[in-house]
Amino acid sequence: MDTHVMDAIREAVLPDLPGFRAEWLPQIDSTNSELMRRARAGRLEPVLLVAGQQTAGRGRLGRQWFSDTGADAKLGSEGSLTFSLGLPLAPLDWSGLSLAVGVSVVRSLHPDLRLKWPNDVWLRDRKLAGILIETANLADTPEARYAVVGVGINMKPRAATGLSTPPAWLGEVLPGVEAPEALLRIAAPLVRALKLFEANGFSTFQAGFNERDALGGLAVTLSDGTTGVAQGVDGMGALLVHTAHGLKKVTSSEVSLRPLNPPPYENL
Ligand code: ATP
Ligand code: BTN
Repeated sequence: MDTHVMDAIREAVLPDLPGFRAEWLPQIDSTNSELMRRARAGRLEPVLLVAGQQTAGRGRLGRQWFSDTGADAKLGSEGSLTFSLGLPLAPLDWSGLSLAVGVSVVRSLHPDLRLKWPNDVWLRDRKLAGILIETANLADTPEARYAVVGVGINMKPRAATGLSTPPAWLGEVLPGVEAPEALLRIAAPLVRALKLFEANGFSTFQAGFNERDALGGLAVTLSDGTTGVAQGVDGMGALLVHTAHGLKKVTSSEVSLRPLNPPPYENL
């Protein structure tokens, strides 16, 4: 990653986050794992950690996140953008944080991007990016936690092999865009969104999520067997599903959501 871009990100973020650093590593198992290890070792500074390549990227529930390096990752030609933002946060309620992050990321990138509850960015019927948030305890301030906000974005075409949803990539909507530019667009607004979330909780992001909801108004099926019509989220970020037995609120992060009749995938 271009050092100018890392400097520009640091300058853009510093006013909102004193002590902030932006760090690029050519290779790491997972930027989330690295920041969680640092947090457990007492390193709780605000930092953006960007990986040229992840060797063991993680999704939710122990799933894998696959990413590609570019021919020369230092020149910013990565096939994937993988990064984690770590910072202490003390919101009154953590509900909906991954949705708030999603709203910020899609707003920074492109109006055509949509959000699939609770942590995916979609382009039409394919997955373009994923969000993984983990937190660590802070010993002497029980109201705050160290939050690690991980984001993985496909920048370039990639095969669907082994993926539960065929992939989309950012170049489809922003032709020629490279990882450094995307990161520069995302980083400072994401920090501001996290600060807003910390102050006001999810409710400030509810309308933003519902405007970008990939599945609002569509028939969906949940991994717990529930079927119904998705109706967006409430002010706490709970998914609302209109079922035969009434309106169901889904909060469990263990639940996966799928369109009941996914449209045929585009042949790109
Ligand atoms: P959910 O709806 O519960 O979020 P999900 O299938 O999206 O289900 P996650 O845990 O959110 O599951 O994301 C991990 C999944 O993302 C993996 O199981 C894999 O199928 C998919 N995946 C991994 N890498 C990529 C990638 N680069 N592009 C698109 N999808 C990917
Ligand atoms: C998902 O779709 O379930 C979430 C995928 C999150 C991937 C990003 S890439 C940067 C950070 N490091 C990881 O190991 N995971 C997140």
